[in-house]
Amino acid sequence: MTNETMTPLLEKYATQIETVLSKYPPDRKQSAVLPLLYLAQREYGYCTPEAIREVAEIAGVEPTEVDAVVGFYTLFYDHPVGKHVVQVCNDLPCALRGSDQFLEHACQKLGLDKHQVEHGGATTADGEFTLESVVCLAACDKAPLLQIDLEYFERLTPEEFDRLIEEYRKK
Ligand code: FES
Repeated sequence: MTNETMTPLLEKYATQIETVLSKYPPDRKQSAVLPLLYLAQREYGYCTPEAIREVAEIAGVEPTEVDAVVGFYTLFYDHPVGKHVVQVCNDLPCALRGSDQFLEHACQKLGLDKHQVEHGGATTADGEFTLESVVCLAACDKAPLLQIDLEYFERLTPEEFDRLIEEYRKK
C-alpha cells in the first residue's frame, strides 16, 4: 500500500491488517472483509460510514458491498451502541419458556422502553448497555437466554440477570 491509500485503520493496525490479508490469495482480498470489519468495529465502536469506506478500500471492494455485509450480520452495528450489547432471544420457542417476561424485567432493570428494545434496540443513558430483542440464538431449549457481547448465558432468572448486569458494569 502506498501512502496515498493510507487510511487511519491502516496507519494504526498495519501489522494486524497485513496478517489478515496474508491469509488470502492476493486476488481474493475481499475474503478479508469480515475480519477487517471486526477490527474496524473494535476501533470505532460501530461500523461508521468512514470505517466501511476504509474496509472497502483495503479489501478492494465497493463500500456498498461492505455495507451489505454489515447489514447481514447481527453482530456488526451501523449505528452507535453501548459498551456492552445484550441480546435477549424472544422468538416463539423462547417466549413459550418465559422470555417475554424476562425481557420485560431486563427493560425495567436497565430503564429502557420495551417497544424500542423490540424495534432495533435501545441504549442506557450512560452508554453502558444496548438491549436488543432478537430471534433465535440457537439455544431454544435453554430460555430465557441472552448473549452479552460474545458470551452466552442460559436458563436465567431475573435475579441472575441483575447480577450479570452489575458484573458487566465493572468490565
Ligand atoms: S428461539 Fe430463542 S434461541 Fe431459538
